[in-house]
Amino acid sequence: MAIFLDTGNIAEVKRFLRMGVIRGVTTNPTILRKEGLAGGIKALKKLEMEIAAAIQPLPLSVEVTCNHREEMVSQAREFASWAENINVKIPIHGPEGEPENLEAVHQLETECNIRVNVTAMMSAQQGVLAALSGATYVSLFGGRINDLGHDASGEIADLRSLLDRLELPAKIIVGSTREVSNVIDWLSAGADIVTVTPALLDKMLVHPYSKETVRMFLADAQKSQ
Ligand code: E4P
Repeated sequence: MAIFLDTGNIAEVKRFLRMGVIRGVTTNPTILRKEGLAGGIKALKKLEMEIAAAIQPLPLSVEVTCNHREEMVSQAREFASWAENINVKIPIHGPEGEPENLEAVHQLETECNIRVNVTAMMSAQQGVLAALSGATYVSLFGGRINDLGHDASGEIADLRSLLDRLELPAKIIVGSTREVSNVIDWLSAGADIVTVTPALLDKMLVHPYSKETVRMFLADAQKSQ
């Protein structure tokens, strides 16, 4: 079981690497935009190569920015050429439900020797199809599943059981974390990995009663000088 960092902020990546608590990094176009990324593929390449170098040999997910099979395959080949530890995120289908994304996933995994992270999934049924297609990682969006009134933990547990029964090696990543409790709940439900923002990981670490306790230790240490 592992925690990945869901960020495009290199300083945050390095900070959590120094703590030794992360086992990979995930990015997507929205996260990168929030970090102020502009300048197209050239700027994307510079940032992702910097993150990949900082975390190697840990895995980094880089998401395609296009929506047609040939373009996705060609972009995935380019991204994967930037660093050995880059895997390519491909959404489960297109914006109108176009199913050709899985053709790209299958081709990349079986013909191009490129690791794929199938993203933007909201159900175990999508996850099992992505795993059957050959994806190395299958990403459920736990917070978005719960936003719609469904149960993320139930979907994760169903997907875990299906992958185990079908002996599919795909690793389940759960993203879209909203609360600190999601991390332990979703790992316990069967996720291999939960990907977490730096802000949420800080909240997971720092506890008010631990702060008070440490203040007490330091104050008593001073008094004993
Ligand atoms: C996961 O890999 C995604 O990058 C991310 O967690 C999506 O989260 P959101 O629902 O907060 O956009």
